[in-house]
Amino acid sequence: MSKALDGVRILDFTHVQSGPTCTQLLAWFGADVIKVERAGAGDITREQLRDIPDVDSLYFTMLNHNKRSVTIDTKNPEGKQVLEALIQKCDVLVENFAPGALDRMGFTWERIQELNPRMIVASVKGFGPGPYEDCKVYENVAQCAGGAASTTGFDDGPPVVSGAQIGDSGTGLHLALGIVTALYQRTQTGRGQKVLAAMQDGVLNLCRVKLRDQQRLERTGTMKEYPQYPNGTFGEAVPRAGNASGGGQPGWILKCKGWETDPNAYIYFITQAPVWAKICNVIGKEEWATDPNYATPAARLPHLKDIFAEIERWTMTKTKFEAMQILNKYNIPCGPILSMKEIAEEPSLRKTGTIVEVDHPTRGKYLTVGNPIKLSDSPTEVKRSPLLGEHTDEVMTELGYSPEQISALRTAGAI
Ligand code: COA
Repeated sequence: MSKALDGVRILDFTHVQSGPTCTQLLAWFGADVIKVERAGAGDITREQLRDIPDVDSLYFTMLNHNKRSVTIDTKNPEGKQVLEALIQKCDVLVENFAPGALDRMGFTWERIQELNPRMIVASVKGFGPGPYEDCKVYENVAQCAGGAASTTGFDDGPPVVSGAQIGDSGTGLHLALGIVTALYQRTQTGRGQKVLAAMQDGVLNLCRVKLRDQQRLERTGTMKEYPQYPNGTFGEAVPRAGNASGGGQPGWILKCKGWETDPNAYIYFITQAPVWAKICNVIGKEEWATDPNYATPAARLPHLKDIFAEIERWTMTKTKFEAMQILNKYNIPCGPILSMKEIAEEPSLRKTGTIVEVDHPTRGKYLTVGNPIKLSDSPTEVKRSPLLGEHTDEVMTELGYSPEQISALRTAGAI
């Protein structure tokens, strides 16, 4: 079966997490992704957090599936010529170097346009134009500067970063959308363009409900679904909301049977208004369905803590899976807190390709996250990540280099 991005060639100049997330997605959709790395070293993540000596780390393998790897020293004059040949052949150049690195290499936007006016140049940077535009940025810096950390955690504790890599992987997702959008526009204009996804912007986009709340707070001085209401105090900025729901339906994380020993014996419970009467029935508080202090969403807001404490008395008598089963019968929205171990072992996620087992020549079998976006006409087949420079000769041959030329470039240290 054909793939959505068949025929699209990506010059993948990305490293670490944010850029590779983007190009891996494009590869899963069928693009030919040619990852350019430095000979001898490669993407730094190949050797970071290794669990097996001298074998590409899971950090690297899980972000670089379905790609080809070529080694080019792009600071070597002959290496630069190889890169120029690739620029002429590819549709998109994706990079997430520190600000200015591509220019310092000699590949300014103007130079790239000279070589290939149809080229789309897509970049992840930590910040957009402004006071921090020259800064190097990693995941947690973006979570902090994008508003996520100040709004995550509990009121009586410090800011907290999330395990979800919204700064890196989140921005990679944003960039991928920018790239396919630019490719679509190119079908009408015939021109390439620059695509920028700044990590601060990406995180803020994912945190937009907190900017919503900032303005609500400034207008009304309170937010009734926050745990600070009604007994705590609100300051000038959106506070950390613990496990309160970010939407209009109050929710909280509640203990389940076994919580004393299992750190994940918890359930997220949402007191959705349309099923309030059913919630009252399930937890044995039938009178709350008609009691004016509890019967309406507005009446419940000052009592949320008590309500969740009462519901927790019930959830603590059930395992998270038993509670799920019962609550789902009544369409009461809830979700178990799943550990990574439980997720890795979940058969339904294997069946849908959300978790995939991959075989690797030096690592053996390992699990990875498959494509979370499912296209009915462009199914994803997850292929192992490339070894460093595995495809250098193949790609050089496609560019028209003879075996003798390839060998001379290798001797000169250009590839
Ligand atoms: N051949 C020759 N040189 C190469 C090369 C190649 N194939 N690939 C990279 N380089 C060079 C670059 O040109 C750069 O050289 P310069 O500093 O002389 O200009 C150098 O390698 C290092 O690149 P840099 O991006 O500065 O790497 P770093 O390890 O110091 O910084 C980051 C890493 C992630 C902090 C930085 O790249 C960054 O801020 N990126 C943008 C934001 C981002 O994506 N962050 C999240 C990462 S998950």
